[in-house]
Amino acid sequence: AQEVSEIVLNPSENPTVINKNIYGHFAEHLGHLIYGGLYVGEDSSIPNTNGVRNDIIEALKNLNIPVLRWPGGCFADTYHWKDGIGPKEDRPTIVNQWWGGVTEDNSFGTHDFLNLCEELGAEPYLAANVGSGTVKELADWVQYVNHAGESPMANLRRENGREDPWNVKYWGIGNEAWGCGGHMTAEYYANIYKKYATFMTDWSNGAGLFRIASGANVDDYHWTEVLMREIPKFLLDGVALHSYSFVEWNDKGSATDFTEKQYFKTMQRALMMDELVTKHSAIMEKYDPENKVALIVDEWGGWYNPQEGTNPGFLYQQNTMRDAMIAGTTLNIFNNHARRVKMANLAQAVNVLQAVILTDGEKMLLTPTYYVMEMYKVHQDADLIPVELESVDYELDGESLPAISVSASRSKEGKVHVSLVNIDAEEDHEVELDLSDLKIDGLTAEILTSNKVQDYNSFENPKKIQPKEFKDFKLKKGKLKVELPPFSVVMLSEK
Ligand code: AHR
Repeated sequence: AQEVSEIVLNPSENPTVINKNIYGHFAEHLGHLIYGGLYVGEDSSIPNTNGVRNDIIEALKNLNIPVLRWPGGCFADTYHWKDGIGPKEDRPTIVNQWWGGVTEDNSFGTHDFLNLCEELGAEPYLAANVGSGTVKELADWVQYVNHAGESPMANLRRENGREDPWNVKYWGIGNEAWGCGGHMTAEYYANIYKKYATFMTDWSNGAGLFRIASGANVDDYHWTEVLMREIPKFLLDGVALHSYSFVEWNDKGSATDFTEKQYFKTMQRALMMDELVTKHSAIMEKYDPENKVALIVDEWGGWYNPQEGTNPGFLYQQNTMRDAMIAGTTLNIFNNHARRVKMANLAQAVNVLQAVILTDGEKMLLTPTYYVMEMYKVHQDADLIPVELESVDYELDGESLPAISVSASRSKEGKVHVSLVNIDAEEDHEVELDLSDLKIDGLTAEILTSNKVQDYNSFENPKKIQPKEFKDFKLKKGKLKVELPPFSVVMLSEK
């Protein structure tokens, strides 16, 4: 077997841009993501801006968060946006039927979300209710948030204190229509989609609506085929895809207390994303060779059993170096598929599934996944540099996975960045990179790793895992040698 991994970087004359929206996030009304997480209310003793924690705003801004999806997930197909506008004390309640059966007071609604996105400098991505909402409800929502002139919904918006429209571009037409969004067939949903999309008028003053169809569950290629075949391109800008990483769906295992075998299985699943985006993209290519319709992976990440002692419907889990491995490899996959993958949304931003931020009362911590997102933000809107990789194997119990993952880009300022991951739980691996076509004089590097792949940042020790300076590399005449420790993410940056 090969002992050294080899990587060749092939800069192209006509590069694909890595859409910054690949680094997007997702905020569902689920557990303590919104209520008691990001949103504490204006009267909270925790410093906040319009009820949203300042420490979370600052942390998300630091990631250059490009896009935020809301309000679901499964919740989206039960959400009636008109319940979440107007004076907060007059708003009706809603019982969250998908997530813990808790009663919400609708105090975080459309204005709260869209104003937060403005504060963050992120594009909002609204997921509309198709499962239990009407065509008119959606048409009204578009008019409410996007119409600048005199109209029933724009006037209502003004009554509620907002003069200018927000010009929301990204709209999901339902969520998981094959499951919690209505258990529909692809053929039936394609018709429903056309109806809802038709009545969404573009009031956005030139920004344009970007309509995204609820996409396939993992490897349901028939779903993508039907949507691409049946929906006319003038109504369709994106097709979604959801895929999570876990040990086994029916027993996802502990987020922190896992064996190497369980780690291996999770990574097997995470790396499957490459096959998924390759095959879904190939179907899309067949119907859309001009690459007008984007593949939007609007839910991805690690999913484990909820932390003991927490409400099982709240999907709260810790975040270890295993999650950093999922993030590092998955983001490399998306970068390398940037021609078709134009947005992705990690599930989910705060206190839910593979969160970048966890809170406990006043306390807040940044997870290893946060730091991967922070290290990788240099790839946002950069030119993709295609790579050829010959990886050594990570072997366990007779099975093997490629140990190394890579992607590379050149920023608008002309600086090259290479992100490398070694998922091997035990072994260091040497990687040789041929950068001779890039004419690089010097590099700096950062690494994210820890002593054990099960390590995480706790509220007792919130800074245990953080990126550090990395020096274990040598660049000579365009040839770069890097020694990657086990379960590590390294970002190399041109000086
Ligand atoms: O992210 C949690 C849930 O996973 C979402 O609500 C749903 O879309 C998916 O099944």
